[in-house]
Amino acid sequence: MRSMTSKELRQLYLDFFVSKGHAIIPSASLIPENDPTVLFTTAGMHPLVPYLMGAKHPEGTRLVDVQKCVRTGDIDEVGDSSHCTFFEMLGNWSLGDYFKKESIAYSWEFLTSEKWLGIDPSLLFFTCFEGDENAPRDTVAYDCWVSQGVKPNHIVFLPKKNNWWGPAGLTGPCGPDTEIFYDTGKTPCSDDCKAGCDCGKYLEIWNNVFMEYNKTVEGTFEPLAQKNVDTGMGLDRTVATLQGVRSVYDTDAFAGIIASIAELSGKSYGESDEVMRMFRIIADHMRCSTFMLGDQRGITPSNVDQGYILRRLIRRAIRFAMQLGIPEGSLTKVAEAVIDQYGEFYQELSVNRAKILDELTKEEQRFEHALKKGIREFERLVSGLNGSTIDGVSAFHLYDTFGFPIELTQELAAERNLAVDLDGFNEAFKAHQELSHAGAEQRFQGGLADHTEVTAQLHTATHLLQAGLRKVLGSDEVAQKGSNITAERLRFDFSFPRKLTPEEISAVQDYVNEAIDADVEITCEEMTVDEAKESGAIGLFESKYGSKVKVYTVPGFSREICGGPHAARTGDLGRFVIKKEEASSAGVRRIKAVLIHE
Ligand code: ALA
Repeated sequence: MRSMTSKELRQLYLDFFVSKGHAIIPSASLIPENDPTVLFTTAGMHPLVPYLMGAKHPEGTRLVDVQKCVRTGDIDEVGDSSHCTFFEMLGNWSLGDYFKKESIAYSWEFLTSEKWLGIDPSLLFFTCFEGDENAPRDTVAYDCWVSQGVKPNHIVFLPKKNNWWGPAGLTGPCGPDTEIFYDTGKTPCSDDCKAGCDCGKYLEIWNNVFMEYNKTVEGTFEPLAQKNVDTGMGLDRTVATLQGVRSVYDTDAFAGIIASIAELSGKSYGESDEVMRMFRIIADHMRCSTFMLGDQRGITPSNVDQGYILRRLIRRAIRFAMQLGIPEGSLTKVAEAVIDQYGEFYQELSVNRAKILDELTKEEQRFEHALKKGIREFERLVSGLNGSTIDGVSAFHLYDTFGFPIELTQELAAERNLAVDLDGFNEAFKAHQELSHAGAEQRFQGGLADHTEVTAQLHTATHLLQAGLRKVLGSDEVAQKGSNITAERLRFDFSFPRKLTPEEISAVQDYVNEAIDADVEITCEEMTVDEAKESGAIGLFESKYGSKVKVYTVPGFSREICGGPHAARTGDLGRFVIKKEEASSAGVRRIKAVLIHE
């Protein structure tokens, strides 16, 4: 077997398939075009779907590429030996050109020929699709492997769960696959241990998908007009195998990145399992973030969609960096190491170098700011504490809303001779994870951490907006007709017979900003509906609220029945800006507004 660097393997793969008549196509953006159902490109086939469905590709019917991919569904596994949020997928494509026989022959030649990877055939194992009601047992693929000289006892048939590829739950091109595994030499985990077992003995290095079906909206599988091949080889994993190292983080691709973390922290990568895990998490998250920031359709941190995932990765990296004792604001050094490693092949990283470093610095500063607010929240929590233990839910609130690492809460608590209920924290954490674990690439899933704070602030802003409208336009005229909050903006519908004038809009906006400038504390009291009415609170006085209701007060500005949650102080809201005022339906106006945090 030939040992080689990650750059060499990338090049060798391209060269091999060029020698077989394939055209090299560049990696598509990490941000899918024209596909609102996923946030990131998660596999090489993703940008090529139209061509798999039959559209003509300008480069022909045989293609080869290295596609940048992001999968964050397993973010909590990052730090072990093989999980990464960002990866490069080497792929060769037949768009209605060759099929199983050639695909398998090419893979075999590339893997085993001394001219290419030179892997010992006795270490390679294979899985094929066993067949079900949708598609037959793939004896063709089996026969193709055998005709290459593979021993039958190196091939197993497995069900759809293992040997079928298609975007999960979605419609589109799909089909059975045959997967190629490398035997790491570990002792089998049981008598049943075979290719496909996830104990770590067999490492999947390549997946050849035979895309000959289209999954319809009804869930049926129809033959595609053309039979395609889509293969995917994880670059890092294969390099780790060829270099004989224990994990992808020990390959040459990560060497410079790991060295930069060692230099910043003054620690060494292998000094303990815990330190190693933190190194790996920082390395992975910074690599992924750098690619996102520097992408040709680059994104920046925000509270929604791709920007939110990016923010989460950067902040998670910062948290672990803090634990390693890395000085504030120095993760740009790690990003520079990523650019140095990848900037030649992925030119966009070199071109966007300044932007990557600038955005990263800004996000580091924002997070530090959030942490400072978290410390204020911590102080408040401690001053209202009964006993000497901070409960798990409060500790989780600090983590979830202010990005407070549990270790930091524990440290601060220890300084005051307080304990933290770690079990309670873990329980709250787990409950949250279950909510948000449904595959973070999928859009519009709930439960993403930092949304809580922003939503609460927009909620408070909505109360202030309504109070402002009633003050400027008259409280008899204005009544709430609807409200909708996303992590990005608020939308408020209210009764009013005509368009607002620019003066009215700016007076309403000023009212809200005045409340923000006053930086008053928002209070919450429980009372009966009658008491609420008497106290001058507005809101829906319906019995569905039950006998007692919560009344949120922004002293001097607003008083409203509401379930919450709200910001702690108006000063946390930033700047309030009305973006749009328009008709919603007859006699109902609609305002969209945002909060801007500098
Ligand atoms: N599309 C296949 C995969 O991602 C090759 O594994």
